[in-house]
Amino acid sequence: MKKGNITLTMIKPFAVKEHHIGEIITQIEKAGFTIRALNMTQLPAEKAALFYSEHKGKPFYESLVQFMSSGPVVAAILEKENAVEDFRTLIGATDPSQSAEGTIRKLYAKDKTHNAIHGSDSDESAIREARFFFSSMEQFFR
Ligand code: RTP
Ligand code: MG
Repeated sequence: MKKGNITLTMIKPFAVKEHHIGEIITQIEKAGFTIRALNMTQLPAEKAALFYSEHKGKPFYESLVQFMSSGPVVAAILEKENAVEDFRTLIGATDPSQSAEGTIRKLYAKDKTHNAIHGSDSDESAIREARFFFSSMEQFFR
């Protein structure tokens, strides 16, 4: 796992429920990202709270935690040069009404809470989030 070349994504519960896993993963792979770990899991509220703890105290925190633990997510470690920035370009703005055409959030999000997908916000977050979801035995780097 090389810092700077990885990002952590989660397909969020609403997009999973709406059967968009396949289309979203296809779009990610076509954009040049290599999947190095992949898992479907449901976060208990405490784990969702921990994952998003940087937002603790903000007005949307409780509803974010509730939503992110409401059903299964699909988590993945993705590798590509400049992964964090390129992936955030691919997914689009947090609020889908502001997302560029063709981005994953523009295509599959319902609203700012149900915004289809997560992407790490820095190289440090990517490493922390990758370890949050995956043990060394579940990561396939070469
Ligand atoms: P994410 O972490 O899920 O990839 O989203 P992001 O970086 O684009 O946005 P972030 O600021 O990290 O916020 C995390 C999630 O909280 C919800 N949010 N709601 N109502 C609001 O003003 C608001 N702001 C953020 C969104 O669902 C966002 O994805
Ligand atoms: Mg974020």
